[in-house]
Amino acid sequence: MTLPARVKLVEVGPRDGLQNEQAIVPTAIKVELIERLAEAGLSAIEATSFVSPQWVPQMADNAEVLRALLAKPQRRPQPSYPVLTPNLKGFDAAVEAGAQEVAIFAAASETFSRKNINCSIAESLKRFAAVVDAASALELKVRGYVSCVVACPYEGAIDPAKGAWVAKRLLDMGCYEISLGDTIGAGTPASVKRMIEACAAVVPIEKLAGHYHDTYGMAIANIYASLELGMAVFDSSIAGLGGCPYAAGASGNVASEDVVYLLQGLGIECGVDMEKLLVASQFIAHFLGRQPASKVARALLARQSAR
Ligand code: HMG
Ligand code: MG
Repeated sequence: MTLPARVKLVEVGPRDGLQNEQAIVPTAIKVELIERLAEAGLSAIEATSFVSPQWVPQMADNAEVLRALLAKPQRRPQPSYPVLTPNLKGFDAAVEAGAQEVAIFAAASETFSRKNINCSIAESLKRFAAVVDAASALELKVRGYVSCVVACPYEGAIDPAKGAWVAKRLLDMGCYEISLGDTIGAGTPASVKRMIEACAAVVPIEKLAGHYHDTYGMAIANIYASLELGMAVFDSSIAGLGGCPYAAGASGNVASEDVVYLLQGLGIECGVDMEKLLVASQFIAHFLGRQPASKVARALLARQSAR
C-alpha cells in the first residue's frame, strides 16, 4: 500500500480548541498563538468563528483576531486563515473583517444539527448554499465540514451513507474540500475506513479531509487508516486542545504534535518544524496552566529539559 508522499495539515486549535475552553482567552494570546503556528510552517490555520456570541462567547472577539492577524507583516508564503460562518450574518461579518476563506459546517446527524446550529440538516444546507453563493461572488474559497460522520452524541452510530450524502451536497454547492468530522472521537480504523469509503464513492478522495477528535485515543490510528486509503489532508489541534460545546464529553482534536511525529516517522512531508511547533504548544499550555495533551509534546519537552 503506497501512502501519500505529502500531507497538508489544517491547524484548528485556535478555533476548535479555544471554543471549548472555560476561560475566555484574550485576543492578544490567540493572535500570538496563531503567529507561532504560522512560524512553525502551518499553511492553513483556522483562526476563529463568526457564530453567535450568545452561543459561543469564546469566539466573540472574532473580528479583532482576524483584523490583528491580517495587519501583521505578510509572510511568504502567507498562511490561509479560514473562519467558520454558519449563515450570511456570520459571512458578512467575516468579510468585513477581511476573511479570505470561510468554512461552513453541516452534520450527518439531525439531532446534532439542531443542537449545534439550531436548524435541520435541510435548512442548514439552504443557509450554506447562500453563503457559498455570496463567497463565490467575492471569489472567496469555502471549505465544508460534515460533523458526526461516524457517531453522534445524541443518536449513536451514524450510517456512513448519511455523511456521504451531506459531503456530496457540500461538494456540489462549491466547497473545495470537505472535512469529515468524527466529532466525539468514537471511530476506530474499521468504522473510519467504512465511512471514508462511502464518502470517496461520491467525492474524490483528494477533496476529503479527516477531522478526528481523540476522545477514545483512536485518532492517530484513524489517521493511519485514512492515509492507507489515500487521504492526504488532516485537521489537527496544537496541544490537543478542543472539543465541541454541543458534544458533551468530546475531547480535543488529534494533537498537531502527534500527527507531525507520525508523518515524520513515515517519511511523509508536511512542511512543519517540530521544534517550532513545540514552542507554540508550550506557549498555549503555559497560558492555560496545564501540560499539552499531546504525549509526543510531553516526551519531547521532557527530553529537551533533561539536556
Ligand atoms: P439562532 O439563535 O437560531 O439564530 O442561532 P437566529 O438567526 O434565530 O438569530 C438569533 C440571534 O443571533 C439574532 O440576534 C441574530 O442576529 C444573532 P438578536 O436579534 O437576538 O440580537 N445571530 C448571530 N450573531 C452573530 N453571528 C452570527 C449570527 N447568526 C445569528 N453568525 C446560530 C443560529 C448558527 C447563529 C447559532 O446556533 C450558533 O452560533 N451556533 C454555534 C455553533 C458553533 O459554533 N458550534 C461549534 C463549532 S462546530 C464544531 O465544533 C464541529 C467541527 O469542529 C467539526 C467536528 O468536530 O465535527 C466544525
Ligand atoms: Mg471539531
